[in-house]
Parts: sequence; C-alpha cells; structure tokens
Amino acid sequence: MKDIYEKFAYDYDEFGPIEEYLGDEKTFLNKIFSEHGVKTVLDCACGTGQHLYMLAQLGYDVWGSDFSESMLEVANRNLQERNHNIPLRQCDFRFLEQKFDISFDAIVCLTTALPHLHTDEDLLLALRSMKNRLNKHGLLVLTQGTTHFTLSLPSIEVVVNREDFSRIFIKEHDNQFQTIHVLDLFHSVHRLETNQYDIVYRILLDEDYRRLLSQAGFINIQVYGDYDMSTYSKNSWRLIVVAETAT
Ligand SMILES: C[S@@+](CC[C@H](N)C(=O)[O-])C[C@H]1O[C@@H](n2cnc3c(N)ncnc32)[C@H](O)[C@@H]1O
Repeated sequence: MKDIYEKFAYDYDEFGPIEEYLGDEKTFLNKIFSEHGVKTVLDCACGTGQHLYMLAQLGYDVWGSDFSESMLEVANRNLQERNHNIPLRQCDFRFLEQKFDISFDAIVCLTTALPHLHTDEDLLLALRSMKNRLNKHGLLVLTQGTTHFTLSLPSIEVVVNREDFSRIFIKEHDNQFQTIHVLDLFHSVHRLETNQYDIVYRILLDEDYRRLLSQAGFINIQVYGDYDMSTYSKNSWRLIVVAETAT
C-alpha cells in the first residue's frame, strides 16, 4: 500500500495546531468514554497526534498507530514538544494484532480514516482487526465529514485562508468513491510553493456502516449526525459511529 501522506504529513498541520480540535468533539468522546468506564484508548489512525494529545490531556491512557511513517514522525514531534510520551507504532489498521498484543477499552479511527480502504474485504478485515484488539464491551468510534448532505455541496472549498497559505479542496465523486484533490498554496516571500495531494475515499454512509459493523460482529451500533448526539439524517454535516463488542 502506498503512503499518500508521505509528503503531505509535513504540512498537514497547516489545518491548525493540534490543540485546535473542536471542543464539542472532546465533550462527545469524554462523555461516551466515561459512560462506558473507558480507561485505555488506541487511536489506530492517529495522524499528527491531535486526538492522542486531547485524550491524554483528559487523563486516558493512550496508544497511537498509523500506516504512515511520516505522520508518525510529525505526531512524535508534536507530542514531545508538548511533553507527552505516548507509545506510537507504525501499523496498518487491517492488522493491529501484528503490532499490539494488548487490547483496549476503546479504539478510535477518526476524521475519514477508514474510507481509505476501498473494498468490503479490506473494510471487514480492518473492523475485525479492531474488534479483536478491544476488551469485552469495548467501544469503537469512527468519524467522518462525508455525509449525504456534504456530498451535495459545491465541489470547491477553501479550507484554510491565510495571508501566507491557502488550502483548497476540489472534490468529485461517483456512487462509490469520493476524490479530494488537496491544493496547498504557499504564497509568502519565505515559501512560494504549490503541492497537490489526491485522496480517494470509499463512500461509506450510515447503512454501509451498519451492514459492515454487524458483519464484523459489533453490536449496539449508533450513528450520530453531530457531536451533540443528534441522530444522523440526510441533512447532517458529520457522520459519527459508535459500536460495541459483546465479547
Ligand atoms: C485524514 S487523516 C486523519 C488523521 C487523524 N485521525 C486526524 O483526525 O487528524 C487519515 C489517516 O489515516 C491513516 N491511514 C490510512 N489508511 C490506513 C491504514 N490502512 N492503517 C492505518 N492508518 C491508515 C493515514 O496515514 C492518515 O494519517
């Protein structure tokens, strides 16, 4: 598998520093984790470490993994700079058991990470691998910005608009896949550079998650439309899935 974040990783945080997560995402995760008595959490697509930092600050015991060595390098730097020593491992989330012999109270896979896998076979491999590393009554949390509603929005979106830097998403999709062309434009005297990264997501919506998670053996599958726990609908801006393991 090719690492599409190999170069992108080093500019990824132009989205904003890792402490700039949404407050309501923090409240949401903390609420469901405390309701389920969660103490240990694996972020299996940890990227540059944003959620690891957030969850560590909240007092959870956290581990991070990601397929991309570059993302892990940036995560490691981000966390060290903030005085957090969090174990990080390079790992494809289809094969968590190859790098983790412990299991967790919760596993998170956030911000449209799972849809990097394009076939049902790979998606089931990943969900079963996550289930396999969860404790009894463990929780899986998946989040993404792709929804019925956001798929209907205009295809060009300015995501970062600064004096020295712009990040533009150009989106296209068919029935099965969404491609995001990320255009990074550095336009200061210090850095004049244009980069393009093309990310192809499998489109997974509420019914797809229900089907795949049931097939992988998860129970109590909840699909929310926002961090306020509103039920997912065709007008939702977010798709948040929480599922449990029975055994
Ligand atoms: C859109 S980024 C999200 C990163 C982070 N979760 C966040 O919220 O900022 C997707 C991440 O998923 C990781 N990823 C994609 N496929 C993966 C796989 N098969 N196993 C583990 N990580 C994967 C990528 O390397 C990347 O860091």
